[in-house]
Order: sequence, then C-alpha cells, then structure tokens
Amino acid sequence: MQDLLDNALARIGAAQTDEELEAVRVEVLGRKGVLAQLSKDMGKLTPDERVARGKFINASKQALETAYDQKKSVFDRAALAKRLDSEWMDLTVPAAGVPPGSLHPVTQIQWEIEDLFRSMGFTVLDGPEVETEFHNFDALNIPADHPARDMQDTFWLDGGQGGAGGYLLRTHTSPVQVRGMEKLGPPLRMIAPGRVFRNESVDASHEHTFYQLEGMMIDREVSVGHLIYFMKTLLTAIFKKDVTVRLRPGYFPFVEPGFELDIRCLICGGAGCPVCKQSGWVELLPCGLVNPHVLRKSGIDPAEWNGFAFGLGLTRLVMMRYAIDDIRWLQSGDLRFLRQF
Ligand code: DAH
Repeated sequence: MQDLLDNALARIGAAQTDEELEAVRVEVLGRKGVLAQLSKDMGKLTPDERVARGKFINASKQALETAYDQKKSVFDRAALAKRLDSEWMDLTVPAAGVPPGSLHPVTQIQWEIEDLFRSMGFTVLDGPEVETEFHNFDALNIPADHPARDMQDTFWLDGGQGGAGGYLLRTHTSPVQVRGMEKLGPPLRMIAPGRVFRNESVDASHEHTFYQLEGMMIDREVSVGHLIYFMKTLLTAIFKKDVTVRLRPGYFPFVEPGFELDIRCLICGGAGCPVCKQSGWVELLPCGLVNPHVLRKSGIDPAEWNGFAFGLGLTRLVMMRYAIDDIRWLQSGDLRFLRQF
C-alpha cells in the first residue's frame, strides 16, 4: 500500500509540464486511481483493518492533493511569469493624453470679431435667448400688426403672442440693441453675438437655430460713412482677401435708411448654388441708421443723438469663409465635420 502511494507521489513529483501533471492527477486521484484501488477490497476487511485502511486512505488523499497543489502552483507561477514577460510594458513612457478638442467654427469667428471690435472701443454685450415680445419686436418699431413680424415667425412661450406681454425665443440679436441703450445710454458702441431662433423649414441655407452678431454705435453725428467704414473693416479682417460687395436699399423697421450689404457668393463664385439661392449673392450684413422711434423707445433723445446698427449673419459668414455648402453641418455635432477646424 505504501508502495502505491510512494509511487504515485513520485510520479507527481516527476511531471515536467502542466499537461503531464494533469494526466497523473487523473490516474492517481481519478475513479480508477490509487485511492480507488485502496478502497476496492474494503468489504473483505475486518472492522479494525477497515478503520486502519480508512485512515490510510484519508492520509494518502491529503498527501497526494498537497503534492499535486504544490506542483500545480509551480507550473502556474511559471505560466504567469511567461505571460508577464510577453505582456511587458514600459510604464515610464509618457501617456498619450486626452486629445484636446477644438472651438466650433462659429465660436472661432465670433471671438475674432469680438477682439476686432473691442480694439475699436466697442463693448461686447450678452442678451437673453428667451426674450420679451417688447424687446424683440415693439421697441424695434415692429408693433403686433406689423407685417415684418411674419418674416420672423418663431417659438412662443406660454402666454403667447400679443400685447407686448409675451415671451419668445428671440428671432434676432437686435433686442440687445434695446437692452444696451436702456442699460448704458449714449454714447454707445456695442456688439452682441448670440444664438437666435426661427420657425423655418430647414434646408441647405435655413436652420431653426443660428447665430447673428449685432452691432450698434450711438453718438452725436454718426453718418452712413461711419457705417461703411466699420463694415469694410469687419469684412477685410474676416476674409483677409478682397470680397466683392454691393450695397442696396433694404427695409427694416428699426433703421432709416436701411441697407442690405451682400457679398458675392464665395461657395460658387457667383455662378449660383443652393446657398445663394442661385442668385450669386449672399445677404450678409443688413444695416442702417437707427430709426429715431427706436432711440426714443429706449429713452434716448433723437434730436441730440443718432447712430448706426448692423446685424451680421454670423452663421452665414462662417459658411462663406470655410465654403460650407450646407448649414445643417454646423449644428450636426458630427465629429468628422468638427475635427476640420
Ligand atoms: N435683425 C435683422 C434680422 O435678423 C437684421 C438687421 C437689419 C439688424 C438691420 C440690424 C439692422 O441691426 O440695422 O433680419
């Protein structure tokens, strides 16, 4: 009996590989193994012999298992060491780091224009996106029954339209003119970039959400000459190249006279495309001299002060500068688009 056990222990000790050890285990500890053989003739033994045999079997089982576990752990450790060797990595190599994001193209151009106007003595103002009907329309000389309201259909909040008491998502940045005049008074040089909203059918050149940049200068003797000077300075700084512009009369209730400053479409070069609605020109900079009614509504005496105002289409400007042919890219959140800037 002791021979059987010694032999089995020796074979465990002699196993060279994990596979060999496994084969020995089945032979020794399995159903036909040493322990099974030792138990086979139990029935023929006397009670005393059976007790002794039982003790021997238990002790053998322990001895074999211990020997097996020890050997196994040697192989496991070797396997682990091998794996660690193959998976070695250099922990001193500097981490790749989180790739920095980039500013949205609208933000980039907005910041450029802010810097430019700040350098010319303008203040940068911010206004609410949820605006009062008064600031968005009435104070800008657009009363409830004015047809200009139809061109700027938007999203009304509870309480709705009518009586200058409602709230709405602002349709343009022009209400910040009113807020600027109310808060700072004349003389005033301000710009106000921001997000605006309209109830539009979305297509390549229309979005329900887009960006404008409002500008206003109030002083004692402001003329169309000043207006044109600032508009030219702005366009030269943005495009850094000659762009063809045209100035034509335009109607906006809050300016008089009012103009549309268009630029030759930079997407198609003037041949016609969806962005310029096949006209070759893009309306970019509506502007004019501030209507005296608007000054009066904001508490400024038009006999003493006058000024100019403009409402730059910031989103459109971005499209022109980077030749983006579909406005929907800008709000798409598509990283393939955004990573280009
Ligand atoms: N707020 C006008 C719009 O969104 C644009 C505009 C026109 C702004 C003339 C101005 C301006 O300041 O003088 O259609």
